[in-house]
Amino acid sequence: MTAETADPGTGGSLVLSNLGQLVTNDPARGNGHLGILNGAAVVVTGGRVAWVGRTADLPQGAGDTAVDAGGRVAVPGFVDSHAHLVFAGERAEEFAARMAGRPYAAGGIATTVAATRRAGDADLVATVDRLVAEAARSGTTTVECKSGYGLTVADEERSLRIAAARTEETTFLGAHVVPSEYEGRADDYVYLVCGAMVDACAPHARWVDVFCDQGAFDADQARAVLAAGARHGLSARVHANQLAPGPGVRVAVEAQAASADHCTYLTDADVDLLAQSTTVATLLPACDFSLRAPYPDARRLLDAGVTVALATDCNPGTSYTTSMPLCIALGVRELHMSPEEALWAATAGGAQALRREDVGSLRIGSYGDVVVLDAPSYLHLAYRPGVDLVWGVWRRGERADVCGGRRP
Ligand code: NIG
Ligand code: FE
Repeated sequence: MTAETADPGTGGSLVLSNLGQLVTNDPARGNGHLGILNGAAVVVTGGRVAWVGRTADLPQGAGDTAVDAGGRVAVPGFVDSHAHLVFAGERAEEFAARMAGRPYAAGGIATTVAATRRAGDADLVATVDRLVAEAARSGTTTVECKSGYGLTVADEERSLRIAAARTEETTFLGAHVVPSEYEGRADDYVYLVCGAMVDACAPHARWVDVFCDQGAFDADQARAVLAAGARHGLSARVHANQLAPGPGVRVAVEAQAASADHCTYLTDADVDLLAQSTTVATLLPACDFSLRAPYPDARRLLDAGVTVALATDCNPGTSYTTSMPLCIALGVRELHMSPEEALWAATAGGAQALRREDVGSLRIGSYGDVVVLDAPSYLHLAYRPGVDLVWGVWRRGERADVCGGRRP
């Protein structure tokens, strides 16, 4: 939609005014990729952005709820395009052992699989709700959620059913690892994933994902899983090249995946493939931080013209954080992204990794997902790491950071 104002739609309206800086991610607004406006205001009507401009030009009587941001900065709500939120238990001991020198192997996933299978639905629901609320308090307004800790038809199906009631971005990750009961019979497990499991899970999912890496699934197995997902209308995304160089990125690009995620160990050929594709490279620096693993080379990807997203990879094993501001700070400090690139990657980049045009930017007609920071400029996201800068979060024009009762 390019008109000055959107169809008002239904629902109340919100006016956020007196924004010292507003990041729109609309380059047509000027000031580079981030489309920054100063002295700005936003009107959200019926959940969608209806007006963006200078506070001085705000239409009279524009909304029911008026918020004076006092010169603070507003950015689009963060789009966390990679998270594993349906699980039971935690693995703090494994983290401590790792910090003492024990290496990470994908085998740790089995601990969470066992706990998840034992858990009742109510426990899983409570965990997803808690993490979605926690993410919202740090500014995340769209979160993708994978299955992958059930690994039986029934446990994968219920994981996705629970996720689908809480986010529109759900991903079938039955091919996370080979569960212990299929040890030595990986192809039999892939047969299950590509048959009864995807049949049961596809109605609750938008995406199919596979962990194509050392200790997980090989290229042919990954191709089979993605093809089975495609037959059920699921679009591809791939856990690729996290633990070692390998075929993950190649398989992702071949399948026209929306995203290849992790991308820590890339060859020049992988970077070229990504640069010539529509596949986004989603980098997960909080995972590398928590594994004390090497960080992916974001500069090499960006300089080659690859679209880069940042996401949390929130999961109890390798990245138990919901904080997109942490990912932005790590993106700048450790991945050598500019603050502008990192913020774009955490908003518009995440939206592109989910093939969404209605989130990740503040244009007329986009969802009214806005984070106001208690700071004068978006640079503070990286400049003040570890500080909770969130002043207010609105999702579809409604306050989103008050759930869970922690921010009255
Ligand atoms: O994205 N890489 C595969 N899966 C998760 C790890 C899950 C776990 O260790 O529980 C990840 O890092
Ligand atoms: Fe992951």
